[in-house]
Amino acid sequence: MQDYLPSSILLIPITKHIDVEKARRETPGCGYVVHFNNAGASLTPQPVLDAYLGHLHQESRIGGYEAAEQAHDALEHTYDVAARLLGCHRDEIAVVENATRAWDMAFYALSFEPGDRILTAQASYASNYIAFLHVARRTGAVIDMIENDEYGQISVEKLRATLDDRVKLIALTHVPTNGGLVNPAEAVGRVAKDAGIPFLLDACQSAGQMPLDVDALSVDLLSATSRKFLRGPRGMGFLYVRRRLIESLEPPFLDGHAATWIDRNRYEVRPDARRFENWEYNVAAKIAFGVAIDYALGWGLEAVWQRIESLAETLRTRLRTLPGVTVHDLGRVRCGIVTFSTESREAAAVKEALREQGINVSVATPSWALLDSTARRLPDMIRASVHYYNTEEEIERFCTSLSALL
Ligand SMILES: Cc1ncc(COP(=O)(O)O)c(C=O)c1O
Repeated sequence: MQDYLPSSILLIPITKHIDVEKARRETPGCGYVVHFNNAGASLTPQPVLDAYLGHLHQESRIGGYEAAEQAHDALEHTYDVAARLLGCHRDEIAVVENATRAWDMAFYALSFEPGDRILTAQASYASNYIAFLHVARRTGAVIDMIENDEYGQISVEKLRATLDDRVKLIALTHVPTNGGLVNPAEAVGRVAKDAGIPFLLDACQSAGQMPLDVDALSVDLLSATSRKFLRGPRGMGFLYVRRRLIESLEPPFLDGHAATWIDRNRYEVRPDARRFENWEYNVAAKIAFGVAIDYALGWGLEAVWQRIESLAETLRTRLRTLPGVTVHDLGRVRCGIVTFSTESREAAAVKEALREQGINVSVATPSWALLDSTARRLPDMIRASVHYYNTEEEIERFCTSLSALL
């Protein structure tokens, strides 16, 4: 039957529609706040909350170690769903405390010599860049920032043009902390792959917002966090390490979970990505993180992404109509993070005033993306970040409240 369909019909992707009412029913916080701080931490969905609290109760009833043993399958499930989220193998996932720890474990496992080059972009995240400086100071490696193209995203052309055999790493922040920009990670990955250079992607703010596939992105190392767009608990994150790299990367820290003590002079490091983990962790949070990823997969990342993109664009369009408001987001592709400033009020004052009305936003301060803030002379900005459970009515309420403050 399908043989008779034109190929254009066969290629149309079927994207599920988000049932926003259902999403809101399953999000207790929607009854309390207009939450436009999803890039800070999203509102927790009920199943995630249930899993978290359920495990804490179980720990209090039967003991922490015993509850963890009982929850073995749920804990392992977290690796399965993280792997499904990224299109990788479960052995390529390490679950750690946060995205920074995940990123650091990967970055500090790489070795650099004097003159080795680390290539990165203008929208680099502070903690990553501080680590570049730290390692550059210790090893004599140099950090080269690739300039932006006309869209305000990393110039893939300039990246390709600067490659030489001293480049030891390409490290990119997919979605920066300070705006709606989505850097062209796939194109950067292709450059890295063609040149055989390791590619480390900070997907902290893109995971849960949009589909991510490690092969399509050609990434070797990828870090993400739980609490942002994946809607999991705080204090959790994961690292993806491409299989062929795992055994060549010795983590900067090892313990009795990451390695086995063989004899007086010897240890053996685990063969999988869990060599980047450590022994003690928040068991309830790890279980709930798995539930959160499962929950995101249930909605479908393509559907989530379409709704986020559309809500954010609605918000930007609406903000541009307000007098004295400047929207600062760059990029050919823009995500759910909307940044703006107002002529009449400091960002912190706007945030506080909105908070009093039950509306949550955050402030993006220049120091968290210093290269970008300096190049663009950015002030403190109001960061309003939307998720699929937000509504057009909330955007309207937000803009009405904001207008009254201007
Ligand atoms: C781009 C980016 N990378 C990394 C992080 C760090 O994530 P975590 O706080 O989970 O370590 C953040 C946090 O805001 C971020 O915006």
